Amino acid sequence: MEVCRTVGALRAFVAERKALGHSVGLVPTMGALHQGHMSLVAAARSQNDDVIATIFVNPTQFGQQSDLDNYPRTEAADCAKLEAAGVAAVFIPNVEEMYPAGAETIVETTGLANMLHGLVRPGHFRGVCTVVTKLFNIAGADNAYFGEKDYQQLQVIRRMARDLFVPTRVHGVPTVREADGLAMSSRNVRLAPEDRKAAVVLSQSLAKAEEVAAQGGTVEAIDAVIRATINAEPRARLVGVDIVEALTLAPIAGIPQSDIGIMISAEFGPEDNTVLLIDQREIAK
Ligand code: PAF
Repeated sequence: MEVCRTVGALRAFVAERKALGHSVGLVPTMGALHQGHMSLVAAARSQNDDVIATIFVNPTQFGQQSDLDNYPRTEAADCAKLEAAGVAAVFIPNVEEMYPAGAETIVETTGLANMLHGLVRPGHFRGVCTVVTKLFNIAGADNAYFGEKDYQQLQVIRRMARDLFVPTRVHGVPTVREADGLAMSSRNVRLAPEDRKAAVVLSQSLAKAEEVAAQGGTVEAIDAVIRATINAEPRARLVGVDIVEALTLAPIAGIPQSDIGIMISAEFGPEDNTVLLIDQREIAK
């Protein structure tokens, strides 16, 4: 596996592969790889001749400095996993490479980014769109893979790619879960053992929501069962429950008339070192 640390090195690698007639799949990550990321790599491998992964903890998408500082960095272990999974090259730039002195251009979806999680994490999706646009432009891949777990992120990136005529095709890959149902996340390692146990409440609340929806329940009833389930867990601090129209992320009420997306978030741990976890479910009409 080739390790590229500069834009030039990655571009040269991709040019070589494209000259051979190979298709290229891109898997952007911030490292601390778990099975969720590896399922993106597997999807990319099944659809492309060569897969490029990227590892970059993108400072512009973090709100709190402590969240950025505490983000796990496990480069050697990540590279070993990527190599074992058959990744052809990994791009590991530093901050100066991605944001050279004087960089001032941002990319923002003005609607989708400024609702839902975007309201509790101002600027987050602008940081994501900016860095993903850079990665798309550097890699020139045919396909790119993102987890469905970050539901709003996936919709934001799809919209950004569509609006800017990005030639790379964006694919969503289903969420991979721990045995008890907790969605895999790089943040899970930061949970104290008791919080790790308690965090299962997120997927439990979504399972209950699905039951209510299957019985023809209203959005309000789905919302209520999620809130009651999470609020019954003393270690969880509910941050948000959003039930939206799947494609547009528009708020809905009453009995759903189309596919719905449910996004939830809760914090665990002490106030000065909280771990924000998110989960999501799409329920077809
Ligand atoms: O989902 C992530 O890990 C990040 O938001 C991404 C897409 C790699 C951009 O930094």
